[in-house]
Amino acid sequence: MKIAAVILAAGSGTRFGGDKLAFRLRGIPVWKRSYLAFYDHPQVNEVILVCSESNYAEVKAEIGEDAEVILGGDTRTASTIAGLWKASQIGCEGVLFHDAARPFVPYEVISRVVAEVMAGNAVAAAIPSIDTIKRASNGEIQEHLDRGSLISMQTPQGGPTRTFADAFAKIQEACTDDMELLSKAGYTTGWVMGDPANFKITNPEDLLRARAMVGSETRTGLGYDIHRFSPDPARPCWLGGVLFPGETGLDGHSDADVVLHAVVDALLGAISAGDIGQLFPNTDVANKDRNSSEFLIEALRLVREGGWAIGNIDIAIQAEKPKIMPRALEIRTRISGLLEIDLDRVSIKATTQEQMGSIGRGEGIAAFAICNLSR
Ligand code: CTP
Ligand code: MG
Repeated sequence: MKIAAVILAAGSGTRFGGDKLAFRLRGIPVWKRSYLAFYDHPQVNEVILVCSESNYAEVKAEIGEDAEVILGGDTRTASTIAGLWKASQIGCEGVLFHDAARPFVPYEVISRVVAEVMAGNAVAAAIPSIDTIKRASNGEIQEHLDRGSLISMQTPQGGPTRTFADAFAKIQEACTDDMELLSKAGYTTGWVMGDPANFKITNPEDLLRARAMVGSETRTGLGYDIHRFSPDPARPCWLGGVLFPGETGLDGHSDADVVLHAVVDALLGAISAGDIGQLFPNTDVANKDRNSSEFLIEALRLVREGGWAIGNIDIAIQAEKPKIMPRALEIRTRISGLLEIDLDRVSIKATTQEQMGSIGRGEGIAAFAICNLSR
């Protein structure tokens, strides 16, 4: 029996207040974790991703051309029908519907639903209710329900493709749950044991729980740069995005801000994105005398694109002149401003070389930077 999993990712996240499915948990978007859980399951033959107009392009770009990505509808039911239609079109006799907003669905839960679907049954993953549940209205408790007979519904919910197709043809109303629809069409439905970890990200606080479950990933990057002083005494001296008036600047294709270059390389290093020379070749006239803060802004864009947040940046400068430390606060303020992080996440230290070596002879300036990122 050929089994399809339909991942429902066309919702608008109204209660969450934004696109909850795009959030990255350890670098992987919520929707993609849900997708991969089924993609990696040996009993699932096809995975269909149902997207909305607003996330379709982004999903397609992240997942590759070969994946089945289709457009859903305004209601969960409409999205379910779109997925069901695709599943039957590609010849799947069994189908599982799963909320993309449940990224932690365990392997065994999928297996349990698949086993029932293979036996021709329609079932949902669910867990026995932990809380005592009452029916209430207008602040008054009206009915005391028997906890022993209550279950909390999860997904996947699955069954024979034909059963769903028949039910959708008979019942034209939106349901939040696929089993409700089958019951209304006269089918018997069952449940298999779900898992508390298979919760649905619905409200913003659910994301905190999701983040706590995956933990965070950290990376470190190291950057180093060295430039000699310009033979032109009028060359402006830029260090850490700050101009040092009256000081001779460094030689280089761009503004030769050795400090910012080291920071850019640290950030690029942490995300394995090459180095500043690869990104902004000194053979490109566009980079001639370019303000290095633009390089930093581009590095920040790449860092954010990968879902990373900057923990801290520590910079060590080797220079006989100019005196750096009197202007350290300005440099820290400039860099933290460009990177949109708190001032106390950027540190600067400077040292002379005690007249030893090329820097000690005052021929140039070198800078080291180290950064820490997390996601
Ligand atoms: N879903 C869908 N198409 C819709 C509505 C919902 O594919 N028209 C999907 C959601 O993307 C989600 C799952 O169904 O993965 C469960 O829905 P829910 O948690 O309610 O998500 P949203 O509808 O996005 O959130 P809200 O109801 O708060 O707007
Ligand atoms: Mg909804």
